[in-house]
Amino acid sequence: MRKLFTHINTIHGIEISPKTQLKGTEMGQISSIQDAWLLVENGCFAGWGSMESIDLPAADQTLSLYGLEVLPGLVDSHTHCIFAEPRSSEWEMRLKGASYEEIAAAGGGILNSAARLREMDEELLFEQSLCRVQRMINHGTTTLEIKSGYGLNLESELKMLRIARRIASHVNATVKTTFLGAHAVPPEFKGRQEDYVAHIINVMLPAVCREGLADHMDVFCDRGFFTPDQTLRLLEVASNMGLPSKIHANELGITGGVQVAVKAGSWSADHLEHLGDEEISCLKNSEVMPVGLPGTSYFLDIPYAPARKIMDAGLPFALASDFNPGSSPVCNLQMVWSLGCSRMKMLPAEAFNAITLNAARSLRMETATGSIAVGKRADFWTTDTKNAIQAIPYFFGINHAREIYISGNKS
Ligand code: NIG
Ligand code: FE
Repeated sequence: MRKLFTHINTIHGIEISPKTQLKGTEMGQISSIQDAWLLVENGCFAGWGSMESIDLPAADQTLSLYGLEVLPGLVDSHTHCIFAEPRSSEWEMRLKGASYEEIAAAGGGILNSAARLREMDEELLFEQSLCRVQRMINHGTTTLEIKSGYGLNLESELKMLRIARRIASHVNATVKTTFLGAHAVPPEFKGRQEDYVAHIINVMLPAVCREGLADHMDVFCDRGFFTPDQTLRLLEVASNMGLPSKIHANELGITGGVQVAVKAGSWSADHLEHLGDEEISCLKNSEVMPVGLPGTSYFLDIPYAPARKIMDAGLPFALASDFNPGSSPVCNLQMVWSLGCSRMKMLPAEAFNAITLNAARSLRMETATGSIAVGKRADFWTTDTKNAIQAIPYFFGINHAREIYISGNKS
């Protein structure tokens, strides 16, 4: 089946020689073609060219995208989009001066979400989480990751991961799943953190792997949550069971998370709001993708990951939403793109590459998606916003996506 899209105003994010990731100054580059056609064959990109060329390729179906700009599908590599309830009352507490850490220490935060999720009917949880994922897709996201971590016991962690797999089979977008049992210590293990770590290792992880429910392992390695030593042990056991890792690191302080990610060979270290020179040189000797989550910094009013410093060190950098009810209730990667520019001083092209190719790399999916390249899955979206790469993050707060195509089909 060959589909030909014609009269495209501009195609952005083309790669003739596909790269695995973009580092440092490479992040400022985007290849585009104007007045173009785009060919999709069997769900994958098969070529593109100028409408001025004499012979357009033969196709079974031809569709005009007259006047529209085309962008590759966005990749959201870090989300907690399965949750029971918003935590807007905690948000109000923070508006009155309480901190995220104080609320968490008093039993709110992640534990509040866990209590609500444990009691919620699986069907209802599935339905409302599916709606959230559909909203993400409507904003241009065609590949996303979903974490567990609001169950914190065997039954409810499995419930979350099964729902994530069910969502994957209900949407055309690609969904990857992450086991985050080590998100917080649940009340029944209060004061017995080591016992909970042992429970994850001996009971939860084997069950998750037996059912094949997770693609990665994650740990919240930070002050008041899990220590670097515990994190390393958890990641090593997961790795022996075949699960690569992506971890929460350095959100609340310089707490050793980056070093653990490097040591464990994690695919990504996410958050990085607190990052010193030592962490940057540590990342330089690794294949760990640094991932910034500007929605969290915005919503918690904490520092932003030092994107410019990371890129100036010649490193790659990715961005994700961290969509969750406590620290980042944003499902819209276009908004994350804008925050990357306005708050982290990334140029529009750099932040675009951070939510496409580099985000795909952080899931080790860069050969499948993240750009418009021959053989990659034909995931793309159209916009009638002119000069899209600058104008989308500039006109922030609205959805610029018109139509979403996944594997070449309108979603
Ligand atoms: O990435 N930092 C840990 N986990 C989430 C927050 C989860 C929550 O507050 O519910 C995050 O920010
Ligand atoms: Fe997170």
